Amino acid sequence: MEKEYILEMKHISKVFPGVKALDDVKLQVRPGTVHSLMGENGAGKSTLMKCLFGIYSIDEGEIILDGRKVLFSSPAEALENYVSMVHQELNQVPEQNVMENLWLGRYPMKGGLIDNKKMYEDTMKIFRDLDIDVDPRAKVGSLSVSQKQMIEIGKAVSYNAKIIVMDEPTSSLTEKEVEHLFRIIHKLIEKKSSVIYISHKMEEILRISDDVTVMRDGKWISTRPASELTIDEIIKMMVGREMTERYPQKETKPGEVLMEVRDLSSASKDFSGVNFELHKGEILGVAGLVGSKRTELLETIFGLRAKGSGQILVEGKEIHNKSPREAMKNGFAMLTEERRKDGIFAGLSVSFNMAIDNLDCYTRHGLLNDKLMKADVDKMIQEFKIKTPSGSQKIGNLSGGNQQKVILGRWLLTRPTILLLDEPTRGIDVGAKYEIYQLINQLVAEGKGIIIVSSEMPELLGICDRILVMSNGHQTGIFDAKDVTQEQIMQASAKCV
Ligand SMILES: Nc1ncnc2c1ncn2[C@@H]1O[C@H](COP(=O)(O)OP(=O)(O)OP(=O)(O)O)[C@@H](O)[C@H]1O
Ligand SMILES: [Mg+2]
Repeated sequence: MEKEYILEMKHISKVFPGVKALDDVKLQVRPGTVHSLMGENGAGKSTLMKCLFGIYSIDEGEIILDGRKVLFSSPAEALENYVSMVHQELNQVPEQNVMENLWLGRYPMKGGLIDNKKMYEDTMKIFRDLDIDVDPRAKVGSLSVSQKQMIEIGKAVSYNAKIIVMDEPTSSLTEKEVEHLFRIIHKLIEKKSSVIYISHKMEEILRISDDVTVMRDGKWISTRPASELTIDEIIKMMVGREMTERYPQKETKPGEVLMEVRDLSSASKDFSGVNFELHKGEILGVAGLVGSKRTELLETIFGLRAKGSGQILVEGKEIHNKSPREAMKNGFAMLTEERRKDGIFAGLSVSFNMAIDNLDCYTRHGLLNDKLMKADVDKMIQEFKIKTPSGSQKIGNLSGGNQQKVILGRWLLTRPTILLLDEPTRGIDVGAKYEIYQLINQLVAEGKGIIIVSSEMPELLGICDRILVMSNGHQTGIFDAKDVTQEQIMQASAKCV
């Protein structure tokens, strides 16, 4: 008889200094299903999975895998016991090729040498099965995020994993890549593996899951079949209260022109012919498909990329942001898309990470005024509800979403007039998203101008005054958010130019 659960985690508790990350949590995963794990930033999702995977030890509780009590002391041991995990930050060796990466530590041998031919064939067999189109001999460093993820999934299959954990696998994938991932997940399920899936994307969760477990503040809240749930119900369980709306009402209207961008192109000609005005108190969205050069547009305005032709005027005066430093002097701030990679000093404190771009403001006669800095940092921690025991915690110990909030806080502390945000809510839970929207509204109420690039169309429609659409490096439309439909934006995004 088939067991009811392939995996049971019972009464799991885990304490870090100052944080009870897991408090009597349970998880029951049925064979051949997708089980989603949901919860706000810092709820304990990644920690629970790291306990399963042998990265963290548990303080209390037990783990039963396929009817057998287990406790892995390393990821290697977990893998040998059919448990695998695809992390969000993939740390593969870039110089290695795909198949070496896949079979690391267990290369097929022949006469004392690595049997490359067999390794190639074994890899191809797995890739073909899963419909993965990657050359086993390609260098890992040359692959896209999605392809790297695929290799990790291939590795899981090569270990005959019964449990495959995916921690926010789609946060940097294009829509097409997401569809491919979902097809692969279906194949894994057909093979009777189970997938534990972590994501903040509600629509995705309801589409792919069989069961959903919600956690809050390190505690188990509920486990239910996805078919019985609505997005609103999940949100309510996650945040512990009713959330009637996902986007706060913007009270203020845009005022006079703050910035003018005329016929802008980048030196590398990634994009050209961009024209728009940004008004005081305006939230201008930038929509477009991956590859439409939205990020490049923001980077050029911020001086991270060289400008080709065109002009940027702030309050009627032409400015030349030749470097981010100059841009910051001109009142700009930019939250980059790759902030986890570019923006974080993992070994240093939350305070340092938040104040680093603003040290000038806390320095008087060459001395750092700790008190002033601490007051600002504490205010941000409170306003953003950043989950950390204090400002002195290492940022690397915060959950993914909370690290993001710290970096957003950093830019707000520079008190910019024009704020450029590239995917500011990626990886951030619904409750925190709402708080960020409120903060954005607060900033524009003070007369600042905000440009926000986002791949989530409902988000742009929900918070922006106007939406500029780009396709393939060209501006293909600029719409009033009140009168435009999702279809019109899609059409402009897909326009061939
Ligand atoms: N190594 C660590 N040292 C100290 N605290 C930690 C460590 N790892 C996690 N924590 C804390 O445990 C709590 C749970 O974090 P976890 O990363 O599991 O959250 P999460 O649910 O995955 O959130 P997110 O959606 O933001 O990724 C957080 O308060 C976090 O700061
Ligand atoms: Mg996490």
